[in-house]
Amino acid sequence: MNFQAIASALAILTMAICVACNRAPGRPAADSAIVRPDQIVDFNLLYSENCAGCHGKNGKGGAALALVNPVFLAIADDAVIRHTTASGVSGTAMPAFAQSAGGMLTDKQIDAIVHGIRSWAKPDALRDATVPPYTAQAPGDQQRGAGAYQTYCSSCHGPDGHGGTKASSIVDGAYLALVSDRDLRTTVIAGRPELGSPDWRGDVPGHPMSAQEISDLVAWLSSKRSRVPDQPLSITSINPANGGPQ
Ligand code: HEC
Ligand code: HEC
Repeated sequence: MNFQAIASALAILTMAICVACNRAPGRPAADSAIVRPDQIVDFNLLYSENCAGCHGKNGKGGAALALVNPVFLAIADDAVIRHTTASGVSGTAMPAFAQSAGGMLTDKQIDAIVHGIRSWAKPDALRDATVPPYTAQAPGDQQRGAGAYQTYCSSCHGPDGHGGTKASSIVDGAYLALVSDRDLRTTVIAGRPELGSPDWRGDVPGHPMSAQEISDLVAWLSSKRSRVPDQPLSITSINPANGGPQ
């Protein structure tokens, strides 16, 4: 077959395809079932493809916290959820999803995720409990935090945090290197009920932790973090935007 024969064979083939689909090649039909990935705004699809692997199916928790946790939803406003989803938490496993931060999702898709997560909230889930603030109002004191640990956590995590009969270590360098102080704070306030770790009211039933005790406890846990300079995941080493090297 010479060149011309090939060219006309291709032309016939192209025409046949065009007749079969009745449109110009490459242009999606109005009712096309294939949606470009960046056009997907269905929350369930976006969530299951991007978040479920770590936060669990339907937000029920996995390696990372349960986003359906009513205490988490009470303390984290939309701005916090949007910012974390868009920019991630550098130095932890939480990725940045916004295209502007190197991720794959458009602002519209991030909005759909924020609204979807918010729709999991049950407005009267906490009735008249006063929930401690998401962000610490005053710096914590690690000495006092050691005392708070004894009061609220040692019954399960052991006398020094290295694990007890009911729960494992929470002071291991390997664990603390992977989580931010903010995540420790969220965990203390919202608990990991799906794993059996109570929220701020449940560690000592009838005796909720005060906001100051929570800050102190986080300072104590944070002080157990290894200070090895080239720790692979030190919080500031990765993203210049968070104070790391430029
Ligand atoms: C590879 C695992 C992974 C994936 C995938 C992931 N996350 Fe996370 N996420 C984490 C971890 C780990 C943390 C805790 C980070 C820290 O230590 O601060 C976190 C924290 C969060 C927080 C903040 C919780 C807090 O303490 O305030 C939000 C909100 C969140 N993720 C939302 C999402 C959403 C929405 C998606 C999907 C678009 C997603 N995550 C996908 C691992 C993941
Ligand atoms: C009633 C027992 C109990 C009490 C009290 C308790 N925890 Fe837990 N905690 C658990 C269990 C069970 C798990 C999950 C399994 C494990 O780690 O062994 C857990 C897990 C955790 C985790 C790991 C979460 C993760 O991301 O994997 C942290 C952090 C934690 N607890 C912190 C605390 C702190 C801080 C206190 C005190 C304010 C506390 N817990 C009080 C039982 C408890």
